[in-house]
Amino acid sequence: MKETIFSKFAKKYDKASWPQFEVGKKLLKSINIKDKKVLEIGCHAGKLSLEIAKIANEVIGIDLASNAIKIAKERAKKNEAGNVKFFVRNVENINLKEKFDIIISNIAFHVFKNKEKVLKEMKKALKKEGILALSFPIEGVDNEEEFREVYFSVMDSYSYSYSKYESKIRFPTPKGFSPKKYIKNLFEKEGFKILKLSEEHPVFWFKDEKEFINHYEGSSPSKNYLKHLPIKMRSKAKKEILNKLKNKTNKKGLKMTWGYLIVIAKKY
Ligand SMILES: C[S@@+](CC[C@H](N)C(=O)[O-])C[C@H]1O[C@@H](n2cnc3c(N)ncnc32)[C@H](O)[C@@H]1O
Repeated sequence: MKETIFSKFAKKYDKASWPQFEVGKKLLKSINIKDKKVLEIGCHAGKLSLEIAKIANEVIGIDLASNAIKIAKERAKKNEAGNVKFFVRNVENINLKEKFDIIISNIAFHVFKNKEKVLKEMKKALKKEGILALSFPIEGVDNEEEFREVYFSVMDSYSYSYSKYESKIRFPTPKGFSPKKYIKNLFEKEGFKILKLSEEHPVFWFKDEKEFINHYEGSSPSKNYLKHLPIKMRSKAKKEILNKLKNKTNKKGLKMTWGYLIVIAKKY
């Protein structure tokens, strides 16, 4: 399988993804990882894996993005974390000899293409009664639409009609998709018992519009909207976007609300 786009801009994502890291730390609080053998899937540059390694007995982090795994290995070395290892692996073919007490995957399940296959692989890699802990975003409860509108209103003014690129850049959630019901059915069908299925709505504050844009464009390939404009128009368009975002910034900064699901499930 081809590398993911998360490899191409691994450093940028690593810097931009602090809200994802916060969600990951919260996910860890939902499970008991003390002295456990843990696999983190879609670990990117290993920030959360190192947090896990502080408490767990042993951690393996895997990701398809080789540049991210390179940073993860350097990070482990720098932090003298002797109980964590990283490998480039596709979640659709995990291919590790070991079995794990716990599998964690933070803000990644939504990007995995074949979810049934992924759950089968996760089940294979878990010990009997092993635990799966996932978090992934859901649509419709965040304030994403506000930011899309800013981008699209500017892009439309450059005569690149929204309808031309909408299908390419929207988050690929099917219309009428009911995450909780869908997720419950999917997990049960693949041999997991749901222990917890909860919706979280955290709020993140960015110091100003520049800090926000670095997160927004850096942490999700689907939000790299400006690449749909000809190169020579992009920097002017970006300035206009920043100006419009400035209007949304108050004394506290710029507010972003998120929506994601936490799923804790047990293999049976
Ligand atoms: C949105 S990022 C989340 C990264 C990290 N867990 C975090 O919380 O910031 C999704 C990650 O899943 C990885 N990924 C996507 N498809 C994958 C696959 N088939 N196998 C392994 N990793 C994959 C990407 O490379 C990326 O690092």
